[in-house]
Amino acid sequence: METVVSGIRSTGNLHLGNYFGALKNFVKMQEENNCYFFIADYHSLTTHPTPENLHGNVKQVLAEYLACGLDPEKSTLYIQSDVPEVAELYLLLNMNAYVGELERTTSFKDKVRKNPENVNAGLLTYPVLMAADIIIHRASKVPVGKDQEQNLEMARKFARRFNNMYKVDYFVEPQPYNFGEALIKIPGLDGTGKMGKSEGNGVYLFDEPKVIQKKVMRAVTDSGPTEKNSPMPEVIQNLFTIMDVVSEQSTIDFFKEKYAECEIRYGDLKKQLAEDIIKVTTPIRERILDISSNSDYLKKVTKMGAEKARESAAKTVKEVRDIIGFKAF
Ligand code: TRP
Repeated sequence: METVVSGIRSTGNLHLGNYFGALKNFVKMQEENNCYFFIADYHSLTTHPTPENLHGNVKQVLAEYLACGLDPEKSTLYIQSDVPEVAELYLLLNMNAYVGELERTTSFKDKVRKNPENVNAGLLTYPVLMAADIIIHRASKVPVGKDQEQNLEMARKFARRFNNMYKVDYFVEPQPYNFGEALIKIPGLDGTGKMGKSEGNGVYLFDEPKVIQKKVMRAVTDSGPTEKNSPMPEVIQNLFTIMDVVSEQSTIDFFKEKYAECEIRYGDLKKQLAEDIIKVTTPIRERILDISSNSDYLKKVTKMGAEKARESAAKTVKEVRDIIGFKAF
């Protein structure tokens, strides 16, 4: 049993790719570990310092994760800004983080390039806040995608540096959490690579059936096979990859056969695919709506999460203060 921490971005709806990828793994992960999941609303201010609807974003994300099976009884599910101890540890870690190393991180350089008018100190110290999130629970594992590997490496560096500077063996160096099987990658509907938010090629769990139909019917295809049993081009393979996770085996076999026989009609395939996606998303969408209209439940969940998270965080901050040498008179 490991202690696992995972931060969730506070904006952006979940799409099918998230659902069949990371989410399925999170749901499994929480069964076997001491998991802390939190919505990283402090972090969101680094790029959006004056959000239009901070609370609404957090609420939507929370409702979506709950609807997908994150269980507040099994794991500690909280809002980052409900745990001010994180901010204190962030302050202390900032004293041992060097501007040079922060300036060299890829995501910082990316953001500077994309948004030169908003290069704030929070953006620069994003990895320090992320390190605080993780080591405040002395977590040993963090599930990260490729884009977060460098941030996790920095968290290890800050943990190690703290130990060295104060000559203690206190913080654990967090390692990437390895999901047993390879992560399922859901392709986008535009025929290029994987489903993603920025790509605009996704089907969202919260999309209404009509929207899903429209998106799927517009998915990129080709002009169809001309030779029997010819190999599938990637754009078509992609549609079957989505089918693999939402449709019955007999449906998949049926359309594969049609393809092999050069009798496939992409319109029929898409219609079926849309229907099967809707079958998966509809109950989730209903749960999201249910949960977000239940403020008593949300209040209970976030209160419980904050209490559990603060207990663990306060213990660490107290010990860190002792280690550094803060003392009461
Ligand atoms: N940086 C992560 C992302 O963009 C979110 C995050 C914040 C996080 N703090 C974390 C992830 C701590 C893991 C652990 O997705």
